[in-house]
Amino acid sequence: MLNNKLGTTNLVELAKAEERISKANAKRLYDSGDINNLEIGTYKGLADIHNYLFADIYDFAGKTRTVNISNGNFRFAPVMYLEVSLNHIDSMPQSAIEEIVAKYVEMNIAHPFREGNGRSTRIWLDLILKKELGKVVDWNLIDKDNYLSAMERSPVNDLEIRYLINNALTTSIDDREVYMKGIDVSYYYEGCTEYTTDDL
Ligand SMILES: Nc1ncnc2c1ncn2[C@@H]1O[C@H](COP(=O)(O)OP(=O)(O)OP(=O)(O)O)[C@@H](O)[C@H]1O
Ligand SMILES: [Mg+2]
Repeated sequence: MLNNKLGTTNLVELAKAEERISKANAKRLYDSGDINNLEIGTYKGLADIHNYLFADIYDFAGKTRTVNISNGNFRFAPVMYLEVSLNHIDSMPQSAIEEIVAKYVEMNIAHPFREGNGRSTRIWLDLILKKELGKVVDWNLIDKDNYLSAMERSPVNDLEIRYLINNALTTSIDDREVYMKGIDVSYYYEGCTEYTTDDL
């Protein structure tokens, strides 16, 4: 179990509180307008998002992990190479959809945080798409199993995830509903469905 600031040693309680608090923070990120002041397409911007969501919960919020982690058969970037990898990602181009997806895939391979990578990196991705293409992902249009299998496949070939994202793009970039639903779906991908942004 991860060390947390909530003073709980109960796994289920932590999962619920983590969802409630970080989801409320994701909602506040939008409603406060703070989302418009983030650096776009850099690790700094992502770390700021991660910190915004998880600062009340984890000491490591917004901080690069110092342990190696894996998911299924895939081992994310070794700590030893993380810094050079993150510097490289900062310099990757982000003009065309192919470039943006490639950058997103590299950031996912980096998985810079101890926990909360998926949820914070999808917000980061949407900010790039919004700035560069005038579009965001309508996550509601991407099935969970299809998304996760495309992401598992992505380090080898990013065609599937590019296809899914491309088909779910919308020009409704200033639609609060699209953002809030996107947060709910993003949390659903990670198994967090106790609360909706509406409840919080
Ligand atoms: N085997 C895999 N290979 C590549 N990417 C993966 C794999 N499994 C999951 N992912 C990607 O990582 C994201 C989050 O997965 P993971 O649970 O490892 O991270 P996390 O840090 O716990 O993030 P969160 O807390 O937001 O769930 C997924 O949404 C998906 O995009
Ligand atoms: Mg997780």
